[in-house]
Amino acid sequence: METKDKLIIRALNGEKLLKPPVWMMRQAGRYLPEYKATRSLAGDFLSLCYNPELATEVTLQPIRKYSFDAAILFADILLVPQALGAKLWFVTGEGPRLSTITSQNDFDLLDDIENIDHVLSPIYKTVSKLSSELPDSTTLIGFAGAPWTVATYMIAGRGTPDQRPALDLIKSNPKVFNLLINKITHATIHYLSKQIDAGAEVIKIFDSWAGSLKGELFDLYCIEPSKIIVEEIRKVYPDIKIIGFPRGATNNGYIKYANATAVDCVAIDSSVDTQWAANELQKITCVQGNLDQKLLVSGGQTLIDETKRIVKTLSNGPHIFNLGHGITPDANPDNVTKMIKAVRE
Ligand code: CP3
Repeated sequence: METKDKLIIRALNGEKLLKPPVWMMRQAGRYLPEYKATRSLAGDFLSLCYNPELATEVTLQPIRKYSFDAAILFADILLVPQALGAKLWFVTGEGPRLSTITSQNDFDLLDDIENIDHVLSPIYKTVSKLSSELPDSTTLIGFAGAPWTVATYMIAGRGTPDQRPALDLIKSNPKVFNLLINKITHATIHYLSKQIDAGAEVIKIFDSWAGSLKGELFDLYCIEPSKIIVEEIRKVYPDIKIIGFPRGATNNGYIKYANATAVDCVAIDSSVDTQWAANELQKITCVQGNLDQKLLVSGGQTLIDETKRIVKTLSNGPHIFNLGHGITPDANPDNVTKMIKAVRE
C-alpha cells in the first residue's frame, strides 16, 4: 500500500474518516508479558533500545496482537542527550537519571551534533528494519522529545514533578539555557531527518512537560523550538507528516501551538475537553487522543462508553484515536482489545 493511502496518513491529510485509525502511546511496554520477556533477553531497557533486532521485535508485538494502524519506533527521548554525551541510566521503579547541565562548563563538555550518529545509528537500523517488516497497511511513526522536555531532564538529571530546576535555570543562567535549547533543537532536526531517511512515514514530537511553561515562556520554549524543527524538516521533506504533543497546554496554548508550528496533527491529553477540541482545534488540524489511560486498568462499561464518546465527538473532522498519555504497566491487555473493538465497530 502506498503511504498516502494508509488510514493514519489520510487522517493527517485532513480527511474525515468513517472510523478513526487507532494506536497507543507506549503500546510496546510493560503491560505486555511478551515485552517483558524480550526486555529481559536484552538485559535492560537501554540495551533493548540499542538492539535493532530486539527493538524491532518489541515494536511489532502490539501490531501482531492488536493490528494497530501505526507502529511507533521503540526508543526513548533521552537517547538524544546520551548521544550528546550526557550520562544516562535508569533506576528500577524510579525512572531515568542523567548527569546534569547547569553551567557553561557542563554545556561545553557536550559533544558536537555531527557525532551523535555514533550512538544513534542502531536506532536508524531499527527504523529501516521496521520499514521492511511491518504489515503493508501499518504506518511507521518515528519520534523525538521536544527541546523543552528533553532540557528539563538534562538540567535536573531526572524527571521532576514541576520542572523547577529547568524553570530556575531560565532565570539564573539564560545564556546556558538558550544554548542548550538550541543544541537540542538542532540535534533533534538531525535525528528526525535520519529516521525519515530510514523509512519513518510520520514523526511525533513529544513535549510532555509543555504544561509547566506559562505565558511568554510557552511561546519561547514550547512553540518556538518545535516550529523551527517543523520548518527545517519540511525544507528537506515537504511531504512528511508531523504530530505535535504539547501535553498539558491550556486550550489557548493548543490553538496557538497548532497555528504557529503548522504540525499536521495535535495530540491532546485527557484533561482537554473533547467537545472543545471538536469545536475549536479540529477546525485547524487533525486531533489525536484522548482516552484516559487509567481506563485500561479499570476497564468495564466505562471504558467502552468513554471510547465511543470520544470517537463520536471527534467524528466530524480528522481524528486519530489514542490515549491522553502512555499506557501504564498495570493495564490489562484484554482491555486494549475491548477498546479497539469499540473504536472500530
Ligand atoms: O510509545 C512507545 O511505545 C514508543 C517508545 C517510547 C518510550 N518512551 C519507551 C519507554 C516513547 C515514545 C517514549 C517517550 C518518552 N520517554 C517520553 C515522552 C512521552 C511521555 O511518556 O511523556 C518521556 C518523558 C520519556 C522518558 C522516560 N523513559 C521516562 C520518564 C521513563 C520511565 C518511566 C517508566 O515508565 O518507567 C522512560 C522509560 C521507558 N521508555 C519505558 C518504555 C517502554 C519503560 C522502560 C522499561 O521497560 O522499564
